[in-house]
Amino acid sequence: MQKKFYITTPIYYPSANFHIGHCYSTIIADSIARYKRLDGYDTYFLTGSDEHGQKIEKKAEEAGLSPKDYVDKIVENAKDLWKSLGITYDRFIRTTDKDHVEIVQKIFKKLYDQGDIYKGEYKGLYCTPCESFWTETQLVNGKCPDCGRDVQEVSEEAYFLRLSKYQKRLEEYIDSHSDFILPESRKNEMINNFLKPGLEDLCVSRTSFSWGIPVTFDEKHVIYVWLDALSNYITALGYLTDDDEKFKKYWPADVHIVGKEIVRFHTIIWPIILMALDLPLPHKVFGHGWLIVEGNKISKSLGNYKDPREYVDKYGVDAVRYFVLREIPFGNDGNFSEEALVNRINSDLANIWGNLVNRTIGMANKYFDGKVTNKNVLENIDEEFIEKINVLKSNVDEKIEGLQISKALEDIFELLRSSNKYIDDVMPWVLAKDEEKRDYLETVLYNIMEAIRVTGIMLKPFMPNSASKVFEQINTDKNTFSDTKYISDIEYDVVKTPEPLFQRIVYKQD
Ligand code: MSP
Repeated sequence: MQKKFYITTPIYYPSANFHIGHCYSTIIADSIARYKRLDGYDTYFLTGSDEHGQKIEKKAEEAGLSPKDYVDKIVENAKDLWKSLGITYDRFIRTTDKDHVEIVQKIFKKLYDQGDIYKGEYKGLYCTPCESFWTETQLVNGKCPDCGRDVQEVSEEAYFLRLSKYQKRLEEYIDSHSDFILPESRKNEMINNFLKPGLEDLCVSRTSFSWGIPVTFDEKHVIYVWLDALSNYITALGYLTDDDEKFKKYWPADVHIVGKEIVRFHTIIWPIILMALDLPLPHKVFGHGWLIVEGNKISKSLGNYKDPREYVDKYGVDAVRYFVLREIPFGNDGNFSEEALVNRINSDLANIWGNLVNRTIGMANKYFDGKVTNKNVLENIDEEFIEKINVLKSNVDEKIEGLQISKALEDIFELLRSSNKYIDDVMPWVLAKDEEKRDYLETVLYNIMEAIRVTGIMLKPFMPNSASKVFEQINTDKNTFSDTKYISDIEYDVVKTPEPLFQRIVYKQD
């Protein structure tokens, strides 16, 4: 049976001000989804928008629109952004979608009927921008510990979810599933900051505003946005409906990709909701770091923001994808500046990848009129090189499994770098002067073509457009994930005038 793979991004707050940092969760999820698809998995990739809550209600009011009209306009912007970045999602779920709304209502009712949600009174502190409840002790200098802004005292009748009931089970689960929260540092943070102090029951309804999913049996309450939003991962698949084939096939998720500030919701609240629903938990929650500018998270208010589409138009989608994937190391923050983006394009994409393809096609044309076959004349240096080609896929598989995308790209670029070095060591231009070395020269070029072919396949999930340019230039249909070992009998016939994959850029500040 074909193996399945289910991957999700966070669903985004509709915002007209998406910046390049926002794109990371989605680009990384897209690259992994593409990888798994190419690797033969029946893959489902979910993204979407998180449209309810007080924050959105306020913004719509400021814009003089109804909340629904307000979000409708912005969601088109989000979809356009994902299109420009080549995001291949299977569904874009909106929390205002009818099916989602109905299922969330059923989930709430089910949890209420079985006693996991109960009615009480909420007195406490609320951060509206983060849609988060806090206790006095969790505040930092009296402000929201996540965003540093003021919190409001609220007191209202509310429904509560019994987090405390599931605390022990969750602790045991985290303990016995070492891959559940990645990276390890985030796991420790969750245990020490949230689980050890003890979980308080969570307020899961509000009465002070109305832009949310109504509680069916008590209509003045709307369901807490995070309960609404987290449920998207199962409502999108038809959970609790007659049409639940996708749910049966894809749940549990293989990985939820989330930014580090929302790991808490995904590794404490979400698993407890799932336990209460008697559903299996996702295999992995990956809390990635941020793209930052001079120590700050990117944001419009800090003036370090540009619409990501400007970079895509200027430098190409693959360069933008590569930059964010390569620059944010596993779980850590990465630095963004346009200059750093240009440096990456020049140092890695143009000088290493583009240059290798270009010079090799040039030599194939110069020495063999573009036609290169394997003459099997191998010395030690060639055998070592071939071995590097042969181990690439399994090395990259391992990195993808551990969500170490930046390392996966390093592995692929290491082979590209080694290929350039192999050329410099073997010096085809010297071999070309010796008639007796013709077969060896052709073998050497063949080996390099093989490295270009295999790296081209492996780079498809990350930089799909440039990878297909490679295959247009080297003309082979051996370009699938099952062709990632050295093949010895391809008859290469390359293009006459290769088009550079990437142009070198001289950076000019606007
Ligand atoms: N709506 C919630 C998620 C609900 S999931 C059930 C939310 N939305 S968000 O729009 O604020 O953030 C979406 C994603 O963008 C998060 O994973 C967040 O970490 C990520 N990023 C926002 N700014 C970022 C950077 N500067 N760098 C990297 N990722 C960042 O949270």
